[in-house]
Amino acid sequence: MVIALDGPAGAGKSTVARAVADALGFTYLDTGAMYRCVALAALTRGEAPDRVATSVRIELTDAVRLDGVDVSAAIRDPEVSAEASRIAVLPAVRAALVTRQRELIAAGGDWVAEGRDIGTVVWPEAELKVFLTASPEARARRRSAQTGAPYEQTLAEQIERDARDGSRAQSPLRAAADAICLDSTGLRLSEVVAAIARLARERMANRPALS
Ligand code: DC
Repeated sequence: MVIALDGPAGAGKSTVARAVADALGFTYLDTGAMYRCVALAALTRGEAPDRVATSVRIELTDAVRLDGVDVSAAIRDPEVSAEASRIAVLPAVRAALVTRQRELIAAGGDWVAEGRDIGTVVWPEAELKVFLTASPEARARRRSAQTGAPYEQTLAEQIERDARDGSRAQSPLRAAADAICLDSTGLRLSEVVAAIARLARERMANRPALS
């Protein structure tokens, strides 16, 4: 089974995706980490992002590795976050990363794939699609608690990234028509996790039997 978990930054997607994957014994696919790796490599190597996207080795296991180097912390740097949002508008970068993401999922197994375009572009046939949102203020509060950056600055950067992610020509951030929209404002993330895990179990139980 594939669960597509999409939504804007700060809605709690990563925490929720990881916890849902743990609860169900699925593999977690953090597609944002792939965009971040391309951004980091482009920034530090001074290479064109589209070239980087087709040439670098990205491993997403317990740690995020870029050409064998653990970059789990480096890709969360605010400068890399901003660059990731900029390079994510480039059609060649998206095409290269979407191809990699499809290859991973197609290799088999059960996945919780987290991103912006999983339910709309990467894996539209996902059996469960969830679009997780929260108010801009709640998202910025969570993000600033995570990174330690000031709230006002986090909110301002988030507004800029939201505008870019939502207005780009290629795969703008939007919910798939058949996605379940969940607003996590005021909810504990454990409640969101439980709700998604329950939906997934229901869908698995209601799968048509193979004849
Ligand atoms: O989810 P995140 O904050 O780690 O994502 C980093 C950037 O990558 C963000 O600006 C949006 C972009 N992204 C995307 O365009 N498509 C995805 N499937 C995942 C992330």
